[in-house]
Amino acid sequence: MKEKIEALKESFNAKMGEIKQKDALEQLRVAILGKKGEFTALMKDMKDLQAETRKEVGQIINNVKSEFEAAIAKKAKEIEEAEIAAKVANEWSDISWPETPVQGSIHPLSIVRKELEDLFISMGFDILDGPEMEEEYYNFNALNIPEDHPARDSQDTFWLKNGKLLRSQTSPVQIRGMLAKKPPIKFVCPGKTYRNEAVDASHEHSFHQCEGLVVDKGITVAHLIFTLKQIVSSIFGEEVEIRLRPSFFPFVEPGFELDFKCRICKGNGCSVCKQTGWIEYLGCGMIHPQVLKNCGIDPEIYSGFAFGGGIERLTMMKYGIDDIRHFHAGDLRFLKQF
Ligand code: PHE
Repeated sequence: MKEKIEALKESFNAKMGEIKQKDALEQLRVAILGKKGEFTALMKDMKDLQAETRKEVGQIINNVKSEFEAAIAKKAKEIEEAEIAAKVANEWSDISWPETPVQGSIHPLSIVRKELEDLFISMGFDILDGPEMEEEYYNFNALNIPEDHPARDSQDTFWLKNGKLLRSQTSPVQIRGMLAKKPPIKFVCPGKTYRNEAVDASHEHSFHQCEGLVVDKGITVAHLIFTLKQIVSSIFGEEVEIRLRPSFFPFVEPGFELDFKCRICKGNGCSVCKQTGWIEYLGCGMIHPQVLKNCGIDPEIYSGFAFGGGIERLTMMKYGIDDIRHFHAGDLRFLKQF
């Protein structure tokens, strides 16, 4: 008799472990505790026992029965709670949600970035990507900027604990691109850049640049001027005058600064262009022979130009935005205008 009870206990526990639904639990309850269930059968068997043993076994059976009943009640509660939790997870509604959903808009920087990408693609350029957490070698050394070079000072860099840095320009992608491809090479890389700068109306610590590069036989400054004039004019939707001024970047020779005619005063002089009539826009030049060599390209055979400029500056000019801080502020009044 005791063995039968033990066996019943075991099979009950095993079945309980598997049950996850109310119906199955009820079936088990009927099969064990119901009128025609296993306990009723056990009780019937009791009549064959001697009076003394019957009392003892009766006690055991009653205890086991209450154990089972408690276990079933507990399981029922668990199943119910799980059902409620599933309902809560799947059938919620946010009563704070506005009746008409707010229509999102594309960030002005994304609009201009996309426009730039489309324009460059239409001129046969590839779009490349590079890491924002960059190695010193690509951001500086390979670009002809060794450790003690003063050009490093002009790009106050965020150095990371792991010895890497947040790229201070998109120019490291020049190196990555030239190492990965064989001439003729033609690509642009728009992306995020970082400098440890005090933030004001025209400076941000995180901003975007668009780098571009062409390497082939016989590439000259004329190709550079044509390409950039084309791009600036397309962005503003009309022909824009540009000019090159000699400038210095260690990775180009000769190096230039490209200016375009001020869009606000049309060149007559205003506060935006500091009365010069010109807006300083981007750095560019012919790729330095040493940089070509660093990337395994023979400067006796190939030449190329490179340029890199801020996307914020261009976007501000295009839309007449007077403060670079608007881009990161997340103010819907600003963002909704685009
Ligand atoms: N990387 C330079 C800067 O951030 C710009 C540049 C790019 C200049 C390519 C020359 C050629 O100032």
